[in-house]
Amino acid sequence: MQAVTLTGCSNKGELPSKLKISTVAKPKPVKKEVLIKVFFASISIDDINIWEGTELGGIPLAPTPSLEKPVTPGLELSGIVEKVGNNVARFKVGDAVFGVSGFPLKRNGAWAEYCCVKEDMLLKKPDYLSHSEAVACAGSGMVSASIMQSCHLKKHHRVLVIGASGGVGTLFVQMAKQTGAYIISVCSHKNRELVKSLGSDEVIDYTSTSFVDVLAESKVDFVIDLVGGKDIEHDAIKVLKKEGAFKTIVGPVRYIGDHHLGWLGILKMLSYISWRIFSSLFRKPKYTFVAGTRKTFSFFKKHLETNSLKPVIDKKIDFNEQDIQESINYVRTHRATGKVVIEVNKA
Ligand SMILES: NC(=O)c1ccc[n+]([C@@H]2O[C@H](COP(=O)([O-])OP(=O)(O)OC[C@H]3O[C@@H](n4cnc5c(N)ncnc54)[C@H](OP(=O)(O)O)[C@@H]3O)[C@@H](O)[C@H]2O)c1
Repeated sequence: MQAVTLTGCSNKGELPSKLKISTVAKPKPVKKEVLIKVFFASISIDDINIWEGTELGGIPLAPTPSLEKPVTPGLELSGIVEKVGNNVARFKVGDAVFGVSGFPLKRNGAWAEYCCVKEDMLLKKPDYLSHSEAVACAGSGMVSASIMQSCHLKKHHRVLVIGASGGVGTLFVQMAKQTGAYIISVCSHKNRELVKSLGSDEVIDYTSTSFVDVLAESKVDFVIDLVGGKDIEHDAIKVLKKEGAFKTIVGPVRYIGDHHLGWLGILKMLSYISWRIFSSLFRKPKYTFVAGTRKTFSFFKKHLETNSLKPVIDKKIDFNEQDIQESINYVRTHRATGKVVIEVNKA
């Protein structure tokens, strides 16, 4: 089969020049795994950070690529079940599925014609989503569902979403709006109409207006931070009600994967998050760090069955080296609107 392969480590900015499409052996599903014929995979900022060694500021999560043991990147995928391993209970050959290729991170990711995935990291694709839409809400949908679960949103809540036009934000705004809450989205001017169409009641263009100026007199119950950085957190405190909550999926370092923090930097960042969680128990508003986990999958599944989502696709690209290289460089600008997806096999 054809797969994107890496045979050596990449430093920041080097991933595009290090990858190539090669012929490799088709993987075989082991216990509790299914083999998926991949129709679409996505390029997320986390794919880039993992393989350039800066995910979570540089904690070594991924296996090391080598000539003898190349790796294939790719977290999110959608496709059809081609084969099932032993003890697979939830899926059969021919099922249309989508999900996340592997936690902890493994060698054979989704940027390949076939990929083996643990069955508990997959969901059946609802009929109302195309395969390209399904891949756009795999990992991003999982983390959006985690935020939803931690907020318990009600109709009377006012919610500020910072980074509303990205892969996570475009899904979270829709999920949050379905509760009837009042949604205020922060993005740049080019994405204004889009985030309105997804359900935002108000939009603040961060390139010309500070959300503190707009909301100082009309505070919010939740600030959802999808961008990161201490300045956003400090501003958020100014617009949060005392009983409100600040929820971040990034933490105190803006665009965290842009930086190689080193062990000391990581320790400082983790200590800061722990300290903020602890201190906010006494000095409100509450501070929470939210991560996507496989536990959220069942909540997300219920949500998809009872509500519809319209994932936003920025670019649909072909499975060739040049398009993948260019798209990696585009995603790392932090200006993508929704998701960039790769059509690997025709559905
Ligand atoms: N904790 C977890 O489990 C978890 C899971 C997934 C992702 N993440 C992290 O969450 C972050 C967001 O992920 P993503 O996939 O949504 O990223 P993304 O798709 O790359 O985000 C791009 C979007 O961010 C917006 N943006 C950039 N700077 C902004 C700013 N200063 N204010 C407001 N909006 C801004 C851009 O809007 P404009 O073009 O309009 O500026 C763009 O639409 C990443 O750092 C990722 O690593 C965490």
